Amino acid sequence: MNQVVDFINVNRDRYIDELKQYLAIPSVSALPQHAPDVRRAAEWTAESLRKAGIQHVELIETPGNPMVYGEWLGAPGKPTILFYGHYDVQPVDPVDQWTSPPFEATVRDGEIYARGSADDKGQVFMHIKAVEACMAAGGALPLNIKFLIEGEEEVGSAHLDDFVRSHKDKLAADVVVISDSPMFDRGIPSICYGLRGLAYFQIDVRGTKTDLHSGSFGGAVANPGFVLAQILAQMKDRSGRIKIPGFYDAVRELSEAERAEWRKLPFNETKYRKDLGAPRLFGETGYSTLERVWARPTFEVNGLLAGFTGEGAKTVLPATSMAKVSMRLVPDQDPDKIAELFEAYLKKVAPKTVEVKLTRMHGGKPWMTEFDNKYVRAAGRAIELGFGKPPVFNREGGSIPVVSTFQTELGLPSVLFGVGLPDENAHAPDERLDLGNFHNGIIASAYLYDEISKL
Ligand code: BES
Ligand code: MN
Ligand code: MN
Repeated sequence: MNQVVDFINVNRDRYIDELKQYLAIPSVSALPQHAPDVRRAAEWTAESLRKAGIQHVELIETPGNPMVYGEWLGAPGKPTILFYGHYDVQPVDPVDQWTSPPFEATVRDGEIYARGSADDKGQVFMHIKAVEACMAAGGALPLNIKFLIEGEEEVGSAHLDDFVRSHKDKLAADVVVISDSPMFDRGIPSICYGLRGLAYFQIDVRGTKTDLHSGSFGGAVANPGFVLAQILAQMKDRSGRIKIPGFYDAVRELSEAERAEWRKLPFNETKYRKDLGAPRLFGETGYSTLERVWARPTFEVNGLLAGFTGEGAKTVLPATSMAKVSMRLVPDQDPDKIAELFEAYLKKVAPKTVEVKLTRMHGGKPWMTEFDNKYVRAAGRAIELGFGKPPVFNREGGSIPVVSTFQTELGLPSVLFGVGLPDENAHAPDERLDLGNFHNGIIASAYLYDEISKL
């Protein structure tokens, strides 16, 4: 392993130059006009896998964006890792809030700023470079590895479940490895053993055929802006509890043991609040901040649109209003079941004075695992070798829909070893990745392959 680590250290700057090229491709999966860029990013990913020594690299077409697949199976009798990540990124708006352009990766104070730096191109690239280093230093990998890198994660992985179900042999492995999450905090590497799920919807409200003069008609018809606000206001009570009947039925309560573990984590609530710029924190009564984010479901308004929002004033009754809403789910909530419950409740609370249409968008199941297994222990050793510190164990509030599919369809455990930081602005302006963590992450990844190969 010494040669591998030497190789990684010597090539540190080259990795950054190459990563800049990867980050220059605006592979925004949510926006149709970026479809050619998304494909270019898939090809770039494939090419860098090939250069690293991965074999049988191919773009696999789906009804949406292509999957990048590649493998190296030259270690018969050794374990096989299925590495999963995504090459697509989130939109960049509001683009004027970026310090440097989102697709011109820029290094400032040891961090590389660009859309996709932390989520997830930088972390995918870290593994590609770890493979390259093992190949370069030893001519081979210590185990077998399959890469599956998709281009639709940020829009709900619509085609991935079918792909996994119909390619069980191709994807057969011993363990899934994913680097697509933040570590607990700067200097505190972590292994994530739980993710929330998601159910996402659009609500459209129509009051009248067209917008109306608010003087001539105000008072005679319901106002869709107001009605939508009233509907949304009935989703949660003042203590933050969601009012959809049956919503909490499947929620697994936190064990006292897990709560006790989390209380030991070095979490500074005041700093957290100040970093967010929030006057006060708010969440469900009876739970700590970490508990609220990691182990409790939410109902959020992601976007809201109604009436006149330009400069000045306009006396108008909007004909329509619209909201994007989503719920983060926890074990053992099921997104389909939650969708049914939500639809029924929405029907009940929506007044007859307007037409309300509910459209279901993407979703994903929550995931949680026992983390006392040999792969997680191997990852713990690798992280300690790469970062000089053993990891803490955490859950996360975000979602990676396919993780539960790997569990149920392939029967595979997953090891989530992320090297982002909680304040690296994933999905927001000035997304960045700490280059020290990127570098240590390459070393830890190489050790991870080595440690798993010895099992
Ligand atoms: N990398 C994130 C998931 C993540 C975020 C894990 C924070 C742990 C902590 C991923 O790219 C993501 O953004 N997922 C979406 C999924 C959705 C589009 C179905 C999410 O969580 O909103
Ligand atoms: Mn991601
Ligand atoms: Mn993301």
